[in-house]
Amino acid sequence: METIIKRVDINNIDNNIIKQAGNILKEGGLVAFPTETVYGIGANSLDVNAINKIYEAKGRPSDNPLIVHVSSKQDVQKYAKKINYTAEKLMDEFWPGPLTLIFEKRDIIPDNITGGLNTVAIRMPSHTIARSIIKEADLPIAAPSANISGRPSPTMAEHVINDLNGKVDMIIDGGYCEIGLESTVLDVTDTIPTILRPGGITKEMLEQVVGKVFVDPAIKKSNKNLIPKSPGMKYRHYAPNANLFVFSGASNKVIVHINELIKTEQEKGNKVGVIATKQTKEMYYCDDVIVIGDENKPDEIASNLFRVLREFDNKKVESIYCEAFSNKDIGSATMNRLLKAAGNKIINID
Ligand code: TXA
Ligand code: MG
Repeated sequence: METIIKRVDINNIDNNIIKQAGNILKEGGLVAFPTETVYGIGANSLDVNAINKIYEAKGRPSDNPLIVHVSSKQDVQKYAKKINYTAEKLMDEFWPGPLTLIFEKRDIIPDNITGGLNTVAIRMPSHTIARSIIKEADLPIAAPSANISGRPSPTMAEHVINDLNGKVDMIIDGGYCEIGLESTVLDVTDTIPTILRPGGITKEMLEQVVGKVFVDPAIKKSNKNLIPKSPGMKYRHYAPNANLFVFSGASNKVIVHINELIKTEQEKGNKVGVIATKQTKEMYYCDDVIVIGDENKPDEIASNLFRVLREFDNKKVESIYCEAFSNKDIGSATMNRLLKAAGNKIINID
């Protein structure tokens, strides 16, 4: 299939392009577009065939459910059976924005969106381009991240083109995604909500609005026997082509250790890379150091993570070494994605 690629300026949106995207969605096609978190591949949530095309384009396991994107809060009652007080409060506070809520689903939502679950994930994005497309289509839009399943999520149109050119009808290039990590997924079917996937809206932010919030213990992965409630969390994910190794411990010791590994690998003729912060970049003896951001700016590190992982694919390194980042604020979501990309291993240097 020939993919139509169109650039849209977020500050001066060309309505003809939005109309074209809306029509493709109405006709059951696939349109990739930017959101404030990552790029998504959109399709009509109510069209079983369109949804199947998403799974096919991504190579995604069919038991991993999709998020339904809406352009207004009122739409939620069309797809969710019950909206409790906790959910109301969270929607008032955080929508539009990077928070996905899990509700009991109504029958109108096809089973192939929810992987057979009786719940549905719903989010109202804040990105102007995403919202105008959803509004124009006048449909609930299912949109998983616009990457081939298992690859790092796309934060630039170039990433989407690399993964999906020829597999979707249209790609809207709307520039960088500001947050750079996917939305927080929160189960609000019980009175006390549970975080199923950490993201831009942190546990602390949620607790300020609704009090106690649980975290699905399977996210921490200390116990391999726990099955995550968010099916997507059980797969290896966000992975670059190279092997990624993450090290925790005192920064100076970690740097010495990484430098030793670099030396050993280079002596063997292997090409390696390092993910460094602005503060540590000069300390590594390696040609391929990519700076992810300032260690005191967790938002910057979060927004660059997936792009940096993809850049190492272009450099064709065999191993990537990275210091663990702070778990503060969005840092817990960054560490969750980084560890998944590393196959959930963290090496502690004492
Ligand atoms: O930021 C985002 O959420 C992006 C943008 C494009 O909106 N979308 C995204 O979609 O990350 P995806 O499909 O890559 O991730 C959806 C996650 C998966 O981990 C999936 O298992 C979980 O949401 N999920 C979806 N429906 C669910 C449900 N009913 N119960 C539990 N988890 C669910
Ligand atoms: Mg994804």
